[in-house]
Amino acid sequence: MVNSNSPNVRRVVVLGTGGTIAGRAASEGDNIGYTAGEVGVADLLGGIDAPEGLSLEAEQVAQLDSKDMEFDVLLQLARRCAAWLSEADVVGVVITHGTDTIEETAFFLHSVLAAGKPVVLTCAMRPASSLSPDGPQNVRDAIAVAATPGAEGVTVVCAGTVHGAPDVQKVHTYRPDAFSSGDAGPVGYVEEGVVRRLRDWPRSTGNAHSKMLAANVGAALRWARVEIVTSHAGASGAVIDMLLQERAAGVAEPMHGLVIAATGNGTVHHALEAAALRAQDAGVAVLRATRCTSGRILPRADDRLRDAGALTPVKARIALMLELSEEPAAA
Ligand code: SIN
Repeated sequence: MVNSNSPNVRRVVVLGTGGTIAGRAASEGDNIGYTAGEVGVADLLGGIDAPEGLSLEAEQVAQLDSKDMEFDVLLQLARRCAAWLSEADVVGVVITHGTDTIEETAFFLHSVLAAGKPVVLTCAMRPASSLSPDGPQNVRDAIAVAATPGAEGVTVVCAGTVHGAPDVQKVHTYRPDAFSSGDAGPVGYVEEGVVRRLRDWPRSTGNAHSKMLAANVGAALRWARVEIVTSHAGASGAVIDMLLQERAAGVAEPMHGLVIAATGNGTVHHALEAAALRAQDAGVAVLRATRCTSGRILPRADDRLRDAGALTPVKARIALMLELSEEPAAA
């Protein structure tokens, strides 16, 4: 794994969190009936030669199916990234991750890390046990991005494409090229180990939150509870009203924030909107995020609920959780 004993060697650290890239199926022909998060990150690096002048180091931070990702794991991941990036000879960090919530993890890290060096998440759509797995090439490409001079910020690399954390979305259930950067377009492509960059690296927005994380090192942060409710034809306010009743009854972890996955330019079914306004009046922080896969919400003068701009509902939820978790969550 480590390719050189030279004291001048630069390191890329690969953090494992599980996912299909670390998945194993009973037969090599099975690309869907596998268990995610089975193969250790050191084994994923087994057949990969580090580029000249670079050494690779592996650390297993978690081993899960990313649909089950939790905020405490994200926090641990952010802390491990910050610790490794602070070492002078570490040029970048690669994270192997499941595709299903990789965009949430990428956006979280983009929001909390003041990442002057690159943090590159990568993944696979086929398990490690597949006859033709896509993981090994994705890992090679991610290492190439992490080692690129001048690279910075949080990106996701999949199928030869480099996506910025604020823009990336999983858009396909099955194809190896499962991600899109929507209107923004990709940051670039990786071609034979070389990055062809099309636009600026994503600038990390992490400063404010990284101070919060630093101040809470070792502490189990109390995350604000933020729910997502979708607006759709025939929607009602029933779910929001139940959440408000729970809050009024004094449950241990009441809803503090609410994201409405809104239609089009942030519009909300009238019954759901009435309930969301009741929630807002009761002290819940409410954000509208569009269900559309591209574009952003353009604000209107008569808006009564804040909008999340270009953030998808899942990213808006992370932004709101971070906003509300700055201070200890109030019941
Ligand atoms: C996961 O997200 O952990 C499983 C699915 C995948 O990686 O494609």
